[in-house]
Amino acid sequence: MINNNNFGEDFKWGVTISAFQNEGAAQIDEKGLSIWDTFTATKTNVKNGDEIGESCGFYTKYEDDIQLTKELGFDSFRFSISWTRLLPQGYGEINHKGIEFYNKVINCCLKNGLNPWVTIYHWDLPQKLEDNGGWTNRQIIDWFSEYVKLCVKSFGDRVTNWIVMNEPMTFVGLGYFMGYHAPQRIGITSFLKAAHHAVLAMAEGGRMIRNLYPHANIGIGLSCSYVKPINQLAKNKKAALRMEALLNRFFIEPLLGLGYPSDVMPSLQLIKSYFKKGDEHLIAFDFDFIGLQYYFRVVAKYSLSRPILFADEVSPLERKSNLNVMNLDVYPKGIYKVLKQFHERYPQVKKILISESGVCYPDFQIANHIHDVRRKKYHQNILKNIYKAKEENVPVEGYFVWTLVDNFEWKEGFEPRFGIVYTNYTTQERIIKNSGLWFKKFLRKA
Ligand code: BGC
Repeated sequence: MINNNNFGEDFKWGVTISAFQNEGAAQIDEKGLSIWDTFTATKTNVKNGDEIGESCGFYTKYEDDIQLTKELGFDSFRFSISWTRLLPQGYGEINHKGIEFYNKVINCCLKNGLNPWVTIYHWDLPQKLEDNGGWTNRQIIDWFSEYVKLCVKSFGDRVTNWIVMNEPMTFVGLGYFMGYHAPQRIGITSFLKAAHHAVLAMAEGGRMIRNLYPHANIGIGLSCSYVKPINQLAKNKKAALRMEALLNRFFIEPLLGLGYPSDVMPSLQLIKSYFKKGDEHLIAFDFDFIGLQYYFRVVAKYSLSRPILFADEVSPLERKSNLNVMNLDVYPKGIYKVLKQFHERYPQVKKILISESGVCYPDFQIANHIHDVRRKKYHQNILKNIYKAKEENVPVEGYFVWTLVDNFEWKEGFEPRFGIVYTNYTTQERIIKNSGLWFKKFLRKA
């Protein structure tokens, strides 16, 4: 088995959490409401009627969780800022109690020798902004810039590493196209508008940080999947190419100045109707690193039922593949293929991070031990495949585990547990799972 030294001294080892999923305290200290507070207030929106409540209580337990991260041997702690803790209405009046909270989190990281990696936007849009069109309103670029500026001015003296946005395809696709996530919008128009504005906002956010702190390390976190066709029929192979473009190329290519991937999806040209003069230039930004976030494989087939895409996923349930609790197709080898392909396509990207990867399988508790052999194996296999890609000169510079402690999995509620540390949601006790203990051994300095 490889050990951590193989990855090199500068390789970053981190854990990742997010504000909405971990903090709780949604209505404490003058925080404003986000679209996810609204969404989860309706019980039927969340699986099993789970109510988020205090979730895993990061708002009060942040010191414990940060110390735990250190104890497990990681050097980096990635968390997101809640927009409505800082700006309860989305813009305008600043809530200093919110700034104070993140000051404490950042200082606690530094005190424990951990590098803070700050995600500026992890899906919890202020409800007030959604009431005014949210990501479909072009004004969002100004609202977002104001928020980025506040984050960077408040924390930039201590934070170097910034992830401007987390997985735009997930919040735009599930939230503004399929109506599955908050804010439950449906349709191609809201999807294309929201997507274009998210790209412009990422680029603008990048420029804002660069102007204020020229030496900052600026990136984004993009979801990616290994996509293959169900069989070799030409129509299915082409469908897989379109699916792959949607999942893996849609956001990175405009940011690199290559435009949206309409080569395989000609009707994607539609997005041009939302362009304003100069957008061709404004959508590009030279990020210092690109974070890739890998969870599952997608098998694609031709389908008439989806406009523009004309492709569908073959249900992993139908294929009886290696399923996690969310019925996603777990396939660690895919991360190698995705990394190779990404590097071959975009050699101009000089630094890649795996800014998230993880898995939810059922855990087994015996006495005070949490046995999660399959999760441990998952991370080992993922690391093996990252290492293989690295050996073949793909510039991967870090691995961030999703996630530290079990937390609230959006629409799926508390059932999927991704943590390498177990959360007892009644007592808020943390128990390090076998996977966490394995990381502790693996990361031990020689
Ligand atoms: C998201 C996390 C989420 C995880 C597991 C990622 O797409 O960034 O917020 O919990 O996947 O589904």
